[in-house]
Amino acid sequence: MPNAVSTGRDRERQVRRLFSEIAPRYDLLNHLLSLNVDRWWRRVAVDRLGSFDRGREARVLDACAGTLDLGLELAGRKGFRGNVVAVDFAYPMLAEGMRKVDGRSVHPVCGDGLRLPFPDAVFDGAVVGFGVRNLSDMDRGFRELSRVLRPGGRLVILEFTTPPGRLMKRLYLFYFHHILPLVGRWTSGHEWAYTYLPESVKEYPQPVEVARRLGEAGFEGVSWSYLTGGITALHLARRAG
Ligand SMILES: C[S@@+](CC[C@H](N)C(=O)[O-])C[C@H]1O[C@@H](n2cnc3c(N)ncnc32)[C@H](O)[C@@H]1O
Repeated sequence: MPNAVSTGRDRERQVRRLFSEIAPRYDLLNHLLSLNVDRWWRRVAVDRLGSFDRGREARVLDACAGTLDLGLELAGRKGFRGNVVAVDFAYPMLAEGMRKVDGRSVHPVCGDGLRLPFPDAVFDGAVVGFGVRNLSDMDRGFRELSRVLRPGGRLVILEFTTPPGRLMKRLYLFYFHHILPLVGRWTSGHEWAYTYLPESVKEYPQPVEVARRLGEAGFEGVSWSYLTGGITALHLARRAG
């Protein structure tokens, strides 16, 4: 694996390979490295997505679904009627997630977030958890999400970001550059994965820029907020039209 984050098809190949390789340890590392706060972040993301028309079954897309935690959080909610379609291009991640489905209406699909295998305007809502940062072309990913959502359909994006406050930023960068790669390497045996993570977060645009680009991709009513001192950002948007 290379040391730097590459672009285009190379990046797609690297990212797919990376997640395929760390899949068996992904959940454990996620909870360990975030001190379990990731579970709360996903709960907040699903809260923000809001409820759907009770009169019919909702169709919700979980893009870059990984081991399905976000989709399962939604499908497990009391009062949720419908189906979650969970797309990821790393099959081993989906396979890990399938062990946890336990009768909930989450349907994994192995596919590319930049070329979603669905017709236009079929989803009532969409969620992406820690996924857009990994896309080799984020704007194309946003346009695809906009294409498959029906007008008025809601989108929630949860993503790591660089905290705005000076102290938090220093603590965070120290953790990300020194502790996380060490623990990640020990537990996953994967040299590149936990060096790639801080690099990709550093590259991820500031929330205001992400909001602007969502607007350009066909979303309106875009808002965002920081969680946990700005370690993560949560964007909420509506498909225009
Ligand atoms: C950090 S994981 C997040 C998984 C999950 N959403 C969560 O909340 O833990 C990022 C996921 O995005 C997937 N991914 C990255 N680029 C993708 C693409 N172009 N198409 C589909 N999945 C992609 C990876 O395979 C990986 O499973």
